[in-house]
Amino acid sequence: MIYVTRRAEFSAAHYYHNPDLSPEENRRLFGKCSNPNGHGHNYTLEVTLAGEVDPKTGMVLDLKDLKAILEKEVLAVMDHKFLNKEVPAFERTIPTTENIAVEIWRLLEPKLPHLHRIRLYETEDLYVDYCGG
Ligand code: NI
Repeated sequence: MIYVTRRAEFSAAHYYHNPDLSPEENRRLFGKCSNPNGHGHNYTLEVTLAGEVDPKTGMVLDLKDLKAILEKEVLAVMDHKFLNKEVPAFERTIPTTENIAVEIWRLLEPKLPHLHRIRLYETEDLYVDYCGG
């Protein structure tokens, strides 16, 4: 088994709000992040595929194809978007780094049979890993 990772970056805005909680509870739980005017992050996404090297191509998957899939399935959906307002998946789901990683997995899994891991950095010092399931 060999692991291949491609990195992509996107910028997006979000805020944290749980409609089932009172405004006070939202403020207590989410602090500054609950401001509905939102704030931005420059996210770094790492998508890892796991597979065997195809002896014909020497690759697990053509990396040009992977780049195109990331652009179409993820960047076109999330880059320069206000996630809460412009991405239907986050109308009811709080766009935390965790939930964004899960959504990216959901978007990519049908297109990438060798998908192994989504790693999403919200900052240099903070990232989440999601491997499905
Ligand atoms: Ni934030």
